[in-house]
Amino acid sequence: MCGIFGYIGKKDPVKTAIDGLKRLEYRGYDSAGIAGVKDGKILFCKEVGKVAQLEKEVEKQQFSLDIAIAHTRWATHGEPTVPNAHPHVDMMGSLAVVHNGIIENYSEIKEALSAEGVRFSSETDTEVVAHLIAKNYKGDIIAAVQESVKRLKGAYALAIVHRDFPDRIIAVAHESPMVIGVGGQEAFVSSDPNAFAAFTKKVVFLSKSEIAVVEREKLAVYNVELQKISKEETELEISATDISKGHFEHYTLKEIFEQPVTVANAMSGRFSTDLGTALLNGIEDHLPNLGSTSRILILACGTSWHAGYVASYFFEEMAQIPVEVEISSEFRYKNPIVAPNTLVVAISQSGETADTIAAVRELKAKGARLLSICNVQGSTLARESDHTLFLNAGPEVGVCSTKAFTSQIVVLFLLSLFLARRRHMSRDEGKRVLAALTSLPDAIKSILNKSGEIERLAKKYAKFENFFFLGRQYMYPTALEGALKLKEISYINANGYPAGEMKHGPIALISPDCPTVALLGNKKTFDKMLSNLMEVRARKGEVIAITEEGFVKEISKITQDFIEVPQTIDELSPVLSTVVTQLFAYFVAKERGCDIDKPRNLAKSVTVE
Ligand code: G6P
Repeated sequence: MCGIFGYIGKKDPVKTAIDGLKRLEYRGYDSAGIAGVKDGKILFCKEVGKVAQLEKEVEKQQFSLDIAIAHTRWATHGEPTVPNAHPHVDMMGSLAVVHNGIIENYSEIKEALSAEGVRFSSETDTEVVAHLIAKNYKGDIIAAVQESVKRLKGAYALAIVHRDFPDRIIAVAHESPMVIGVGGQEAFVSSDPNAFAAFTKKVVFLSKSEIAVVEREKLAVYNVELQKISKEETELEISATDISKGHFEHYTLKEIFEQPVTVANAMSGRFSTDLGTALLNGIEDHLPNLGSTSRILILACGTSWHAGYVASYFFEEMAQIPVEVEISSEFRYKNPIVAPNTLVVAISQSGETADTIAAVRELKAKGARLLSICNVQGSTLARESDHTLFLNAGPEVGVCSTKAFTSQIVVLFLLSLFLARRRHMSRDEGKRVLAALTSLPDAIKSILNKSGEIERLAKKYAKFENFFFLGRQYMYPTALEGALKLKEISYINANGYPAGEMKHGPIALISPDCPTVALLGNKKTFDKMLSNLMEVRARKGEVIAITEEGFVKEISKITQDFIEVPQTIDELSPVLSTVVTQLFAYFVAKERGCDIDKPRNLAKSVTVE
């Protein structure tokens, strides 16, 4: 994980790098650091904690540099301490390195370097890179980097500065993202182009151990054999977006409240009410024979996997196409058989999740067609896919995913409708489901209007340390997502479970100390859910119910703690019930005083395997 930023140009390199890091903080926030060249010397400043800590420190020290590289860390090797924070320098203080990824053979290199007398000052894998380059340096920094990179195994994006070259940053990337922003009399190096999009949209992406020598107005890229290669400059279609919190206390709350708009954006221009179908313009230019898809393989991680799980039900139900949903990190180690006419759908808010990218690369190598569903334009996954359907949800800053999930469901639903209408679904049926889809923004608004009610319930239950989230059919992945939100931001042990499975073991955990959030928004399984909840009540378990309007009589027999959501079709009920579980998790976390936007141990974009 981790975020890298580098700057050469007329602006203040320290301020520019700190601002860049703030936009990369979603990649980790255990520690942050900055280094660069000043008057022929390498200087650095590192702090444990968030970028704001580093910012305070550089201001206090009036820290100044001629060029800068900077880093925000998600700890892999070694605790979040100052010595483990990047940048790492060699023993002579001649160069500094920042790194995103994992050097898998670092202990072997560390042993060899230690035997030669190198003293290490951190527990990180990254530090070996600094010492290795210093050892290989004989006056030619590019040759030293090349020789060092040849010894590295694993995934890495590196940015390096050397005191003998005060006008250049050396950038290298292998399986971790690295993009150079060019144009004007300045240059940027970053893990994500959004971090410098306000200044330039002209970019060059690095991959396969390519080494870039970045200067103010000059960029040279070499392959690992040090042959100069010509790299295409891409003009990104991203805009510099505002990432302020507005009047909200947290980004997470702001993003939950944005959902009437983001859900509307996800469907905007993508359907025809008259034809009762989805319009996914241009999709078949990139994915010919989409209509003859006979199997769908969904790959994703975390919340995106839950969205994929929800979609698996409606792909089968509406489009009648067999679906497999796989967690990318597990799928990678299978030996996948790609049957003809398989459509691979990769879902990732960030488009940078290492496990998902590795899994789809394997599938692409086997000839699979890849459709991705992403929020971030220009992301690695989007660039490597045959076609991408973007969520158009705007940046999601809160580490736990909220608005991306509901938008993912909308986009997947439209894809399912598109495929269903090509097959057997009638126009009238198409119109019926579209009516439900287009009423979602208003339905979400009405749930947001109940945030006071949800807050009251959250306060009542915030003291509990264990929860179950139960659901059936569409409400099962919805339960998984509800439980994940609570775990992520309030650190409560919450288990999402299929309600029918409780009796096969987990019911042993039900007690007055373990409340159940019951997701009843699935009409088809409503009665069965009621029976399961009776079983919970019989064991003195408290129940908080999320149910559709019109079922108060039945629910009141089980609990007085319930939230009603507007009625919709079962396929779309996860969107509405999830807004409630998001708010519930938010208010519980707030009551417990948790760091909601940046929960401990997490990162928004997981770029290591
Ligand atoms: C991290 C985030 C989750 C997210 C998951 C997958 O774990 O904290 O919120 O769901 O990565 O991310 P992606 O960008 O691939 O959707």
